[in-house]
Formats: sequence, C-alpha cells, structure tokens
Amino acid sequence: MKVTVVGAGSVGATSADNIARKQLCDELVLVDIKEGFAQGKAMDLMQTAQIEGFDTKIIGSTNDYAATAGSHVAVITSGIPRKPGMTREELIGINAGIVKSVTENILKYSPNAIIVVIANPMDTMTYLALKSSGLPKNRIIGMGGILDSSRFRYFLSQAMHCSPNDLQATVIGGHGDKTMIPLTRLATYCGTPVSNYLDAETLKKVAADTMVGGATLTGLLGTSAWYAPGASAGSLVEAIVRDEKKMIPCCVYLEGEYGQSDICIGVPVIVGKNGWEKVIDYKLNDAEKEAFVKSAEAVRNMNDALATLKV
Ligand code: 2OP
Repeated sequence: MKVTVVGAGSVGATSADNIARKQLCDELVLVDIKEGFAQGKAMDLMQTAQIEGFDTKIIGSTNDYAATAGSHVAVITSGIPRKPGMTREELIGINAGIVKSVTENILKYSPNAIIVVIANPMDTMTYLALKSSGLPKNRIIGMGGILDSSRFRYFLSQAMHCSPNDLQATVIGGHGDKTMIPLTRLATYCGTPVSNYLDAETLKKVAADTMVGGATLTGLLGTSAWYAPGASAGSLVEAIVRDEKKMIPCCVYLEGEYGQSDICIGVPVIVGKNGWEKVIDYKLNDAEKEAFVKSAEAVRNMNDALATLKV
C-alpha cells in the first residue's frame, strides 16, 4: 500500500504523521513545492518511527511526482490556508490552479488513485478535481464532514461534560462557516437524543460554535488548524485502505441524492477500498432539507465563481 500526501505544511505533515502511526501503508510520499521542505518533514517524521513503532517508509519530494507513482490514495492539502478574518471561500483564486495541476500530476503517475481533497474552499476544490480529472465520482472525496462532525462532538461534550466518544453527531452540507449543517436533532449520547440533556438554546449555541469552529481556531492560531484536520485525514485514509465500509460524512458528487445534482457537498457516505461507495439517506425533516438547499446554493455559487476563473 502506498499513500501520497501533497503539501508538507502543517495539515499535510500531520496527515502523514497520522497515516504512518496507524501503519496504513508501506510507503508514504510527502510532496511540496518548497525545496527541501518535504524531505525535512519526512526525515523528522521518520525519526519518530522507532519511538512510535511504525514501519512506514516516509520519503519527501520537491514537486517530483515520479516518486508518487503507484499510490493507492493521494491526499491533497496543498494551497494556502486562511488567515484570521478570511473565509475559506476567499482562497479560491490561488488554490484552484494548484488543486487542478496537483490532481493532474497525481493521476499521471497513479492512474488508479483515490483522491482525498482537503484544500479550501474544499467543496469547490473537490468539484474541480472531479470535473478536471473526469474520474469516476467514487474516487474523489472531499474531507470536511468528518472534521466538522468531530468539532460538533467536541462542543457537545463540553456542554454535556461527557466524553466525545459517547456521542454520535454528524455535520452535513458545505464545509463553510455559513454552509455547514450540524444535525442537532439526530445527535445522540449513548443512543439517547442529546435534547434529553441540553435545552434548545444550548444546542443552538453548540451548533453555532461548530460552524465557526475552524474560524475560531484560525483566530487563535493565526493560521488554519492542523491537528484535527490531520487526524480526520488519517481516519478517512484508514477507512479506504482497510476497506472499513465505515459511514463518514464526506463531500461527494451528488446525482439526485438529497435532492441535489451536479454538486460536491457533504453527506453521509460509506467509505471503503473503492472510495466512497454509497450515500446514506438520513431522512431529513423539512427544516433540515431547507438548510441543505441553502447550503447547496452557496456551494453552487462558489462553483460558478470557479467557472469564471477559467483554471
Ligand atoms: C479547517 O476547518 C482546514 O478547513 C480546515 O480547519
């Protein structure tokens, strides 16, 4: 098993760290455009191998995709992260060209790879990777919902003073501060509705905190977060390489599911060795359906903006 991570910045390196510690592949190639940077990160990570007890061989490459040949999964984290006050959407101009050329380079050497997109604005970058590559839809997965859902569980656990591991909670919709939809009605604590424990106002605040979860961290850190995005990437890659058939909210191309077509947006899907395999229908109520329509509209506007860029 071979995995490529493009972009050796904080998200890319943390993704690589998680993938190696989970022993998901024999070889992991870290690629970056900055001379020596990926090699440095790869060497630093390799120097944790004996301590962490993993055998994955991590190598760094300066934009030489020949080194990535034969990858089963490629994770695209490249592009610029947002700075405090910026939306993910503002990154489109710079990141679109990068994501398109990275996808081409990956597929040149790994024509069968499953592509995981993390670069922002993630929903539109996933759509771009799909449209520009012409790959079957199941092989392009945007990573956002797993991260947003983990943030949702964090804020719920803080409000409930419980373990995030005892919570089931999902975020669907776009991966944007205004587009994500924390499904509060369906969130459970050990199989019981969280509304048994938290009043409506608190639940509303938990949902609102979740939606700006990434922005809050960007404000605190001065740049975008990396531990939870990297852990999320590791978990998604794990579901693929171990053929887990796990239900994970991911950004995928819809053709009528959830009432939407010709769009990549977050919905619960089953993930396994072929990428995402099927969409799970959560049977949304009217309010949730309405929120999903609004979210899709916003994502579609961003896709339209992409069209005007002519990347
Ligand atoms: C985040 O929400 C990187 O978009 C990512 O932190």
